Amino acid sequence: MGFVRLVKEDHIAILSVDRPEALNALSREIVDEMGEVLDELKKDSSIYCLIFHSEKNFAAGADIKRMADCDEEGAKAFCFSPVYDGIAEYPIPTIAAIEGYALGGGMELALTADIRIAGESARMGFPEVTLGIFPGAGGTIRAPRLIGPSFAKELIFSGEKISAARALEMGLVNRVVPDDSVLEEAKKLASKIARRGPVAVRMVKDVINRGLEMATVREGTAYEASQWAKLFNTYDQKEGMHAFMEKRKPVYENR
Ligand code: CAA
Repeated sequence: MGFVRLVKEDHIAILSVDRPEALNALSREIVDEMGEVLDELKKDSSIYCLIFHSEKNFAAGADIKRMADCDEEGAKAFCFSPVYDGIAEYPIPTIAAIEGYALGGGMELALTADIRIAGESARMGFPEVTLGIFPGAGGTIRAPRLIGPSFAKELIFSGEKISAARALEMGLVNRVVPDDSVLEEAKKLASKIARRGPVAVRMVKDVINRGLEMATVREGTAYEASQWAKLFNTYDQKEGMHAFMEKRKPVYENR
């Protein structure tokens, strides 16, 4: 049995890493397993939102013991980005529910999620420079885009582990909640998202992501407009608008 667990409930999937003895530190094998589980999950059209949550610690980074003696080629093979890039582009919304440590490659996993919710005593950051490396699984690219280059550089250059309150100030997390309700709050938000028109939610995630990568706002708004118009070919758009006019709750069919 591997280290990755997947639970499905009410249109939501929860993916966890189960390696408490190493504070859920991530090895190449664990990240590959995660990628395989998530590829399989894509085939399940009844899942509308995905939560990343692991007990006690989100993940204390990439596995230092497995990385320590890598040469350049070994380090390239160890790199998590091929899987993490796929997670960032995952078709449905994703939420990182952060308890305990989210450091280095663990923080970078949280950064691939669309939304981050942290417990009050969570500790986050990029300690890589304390090990003589820098973040190598998307942190140098995603952190500045999320919180701006100035905060990202402060975090990455200092290697400091910050509190959830500080992470909230920087915009690194969306909200901070009591430690014992992190998963519950993530589930509440996921079920809210899961009740919305699933085709529209899926499509708008792609539009936002692509828009952020487009060179100009005009390219972004042109893509937005063409994708937006396509929604009018869907059953769910008709259902959503008619339900509003008929003063009833919509029943979406994900088509
Ligand atoms: N890799 C491998 N093992 C790890 C680990 C990691 N990232 N983090 C923790 N562990 C292991 C520890 O070695 C220890 O194992 P042993 O009992 O076998 O010694 C066990 O987990 C418990 O850890 P500690 O005893 O250190 O627990 P603590 O409460 O005293 O400290 C901590 C917690 C501050 C998180 C500390 O474990 C720590 O600093 N861990 C490393 C964090 C880090 O530097 N992460 C970045 C890794 S590099 C990276 O992620 C590169 C990238 O960009 C992809």
